[in-house]
Amino acid sequence: MALEKEWLQLLTEEVEEAFQTAGYDREYGRVVPSNRPDLCEYQCNGAMAAAKKYRKAPIAIAQEVAAVIEGRKDSCFGNAIAQAPGFLNLTVREEKLSECLREMAEDERCGAAKSKTPKKIVLDYGGPNVAKPLHVGHLRSAVIGESIKRILRYCGEEVIGDIHLGDWGLQMGLVITEVRRRMPDLPYFDEAFEGTWPEEAPFTVSELEEIYPFASARSKEDPEYYREAMEYTHRLQNREKGLFALWQKIVEVSTKDMRRNYERLHVSFELWNGESTVQDRIAPMVQEMKDKGLAVMSDGALIVDVAEESDARTIPPCMILKSDGAALYTTTDLATIVDREEKIAPDEIIYVTDKRQELHFTQVFRCARKCGLLPESTGLTHIGFGTVNGRNGLALKTREGGVMRLETLIDDIDAAMLEKIRTNPEIPEDEAVQTARQVALAALKYGDLSNQASKDYIFDLDKFISFEGDTGPYILYTIVRMQSILRKYEDGKKTGDEGRILPAKSAEEKRLMLMVASFPEAVRQARSELSPTRICAYIYALANDCNSFYHTTKILSEEDETQKAGWIALIRLANRILGTGIELLGFTAPERM
Ligand code: ARG
Repeated sequence: MALEKEWLQLLTEEVEEAFQTAGYDREYGRVVPSNRPDLCEYQCNGAMAAAKKYRKAPIAIAQEVAAVIEGRKDSCFGNAIAQAPGFLNLTVREEKLSECLREMAEDERCGAAKSKTPKKIVLDYGGPNVAKPLHVGHLRSAVIGESIKRILRYCGEEVIGDIHLGDWGLQMGLVITEVRRRMPDLPYFDEAFEGTWPEEAPFTVSELEEIYPFASARSKEDPEYYREAMEYTHRLQNREKGLFALWQKIVEVSTKDMRRNYERLHVSFELWNGESTVQDRIAPMVQEMKDKGLAVMSDGALIVDVAEESDARTIPPCMILKSDGAALYTTTDLATIVDREEKIAPDEIIYVTDKRQELHFTQVFRCARKCGLLPESTGLTHIGFGTVNGRNGLALKTREGGVMRLETLIDDIDAAMLEKIRTNPEIPEDEAVQTARQVALAALKYGDLSNQASKDYIFDLDKFISFEGDTGPYILYTIVRMQSILRKYEDGKKTGDEGRILPAKSAEEKRLMLMVASFPEAVRQARSELSPTRICAYIYALANDCNSFYHTTKILSEEDETQKAGWIALIRLANRILGTGIELLGFTAPERM
């Protein structure tokens, strides 16, 4: 059963009606949470706008509307006060609020809306490159992408996550060149080989990870080596049997390791497609672009002009083929659009990458539209994220100054958290290890997601793992505390009745109830802005309100059983919402910590 009306919608409708009754347009009645919580709980600023249209003092309009509200018998508002120059300050009635919360408690989605017309969305995130270890730069795409996926799904959309592997191009040629130099006798290099390819890969993942940077560095110093790598890349792209079989081994070994890393992050993908998946689509796509006269030769390269008159800065043309005929990163992304259109026909494609790729996506999107690669109505969205910096404000590096592996980062935060969890003598060692991992993941993800995606942030381990402040562990700690109250209550319960949420008795209780009531709105905003940060901000505020309610209310020792059951019902609802919140962010809570 869905909620008949969300809380904020209920409030807005009443004020809209009041505007109408007072002789003004309904549309001025929009209610928003107050930005002066010391004065009131909600406000409506519509009188200010109405004043222009009706040529009347805003305060006069606000007074008339306030009088209508105050005169209403069954009003949601305990009081409505007109305040100069024309604000309406609103405070809600405890009875109405508790009624709304009771309905939310009965709803399995705690009142959050679900799309009636689900959209099919391809979410392109992760984006790791084969044969290169995952590094800290891959953290954000994975963590933000996974959370957006969960938020969209929760709102009823159909989401297909595609990892879009970097698995084609020169980097593969480099690895093949080095493998060949080290192990020239492998059957993959024997063009006359007719047998079956070996089951086992000729390298481990650690060897592979050493091979790529080695080859890459060497190619920069040694022109002959570079030439060889280019040639192997070319031969691989022509699907020479042996090289293709070796390439498959590289992908196999590398993706196995990626899966392990993503599993540790509780991140998963429906599709493990890559740049290689769409190579056959490039030639026909390019041909069509040429036929339509959209792709033209310029200095030997094939380009599509994507500049628009209104551009404030120059948007360079989209390069489709280099002068040597090779396809580029851009070309592959365009062919991937063609592929997705054909196989999935999504309503929208969302990309989550480093914000330094913004220009790339501007070009890709414009080119795709110009060449009609997808219907006009299909959305294309790029979410660009900032860099993870160290405490010195520079990109996070190892102590030696190298690229920080994602695995190292996770190990570090796991270890720091374990040390903390071990200080609780009630928790046995094996449980401590499990719990530490769980809480560390919350620390890592929340530390990332609580920062607006587009901004850089500082990876501050001590801050992230703290049980206090705006952190993942603090949220989990609050959930654990609420769970423990609920458990204790259940153990000592005399009747089987489910409690009813009652009108608030204290300011702290009312604040908590108002926060609970705004959950559907928080989800709605997170969905429309594709912003996990919204969910973080909401559950942090909710956790704070839970804790101040807990500190000011003696729940378990309350003698009035009806009152006690009412408070328990409120805590249960708040806790369910916190649980949903962390699920949307992509982590879970332990039993104790
Ligand atoms: N592999 C790319 C990189 O490491 C990221 C891929 C992002 N997705 C995309 N469709 N271009 O930069």
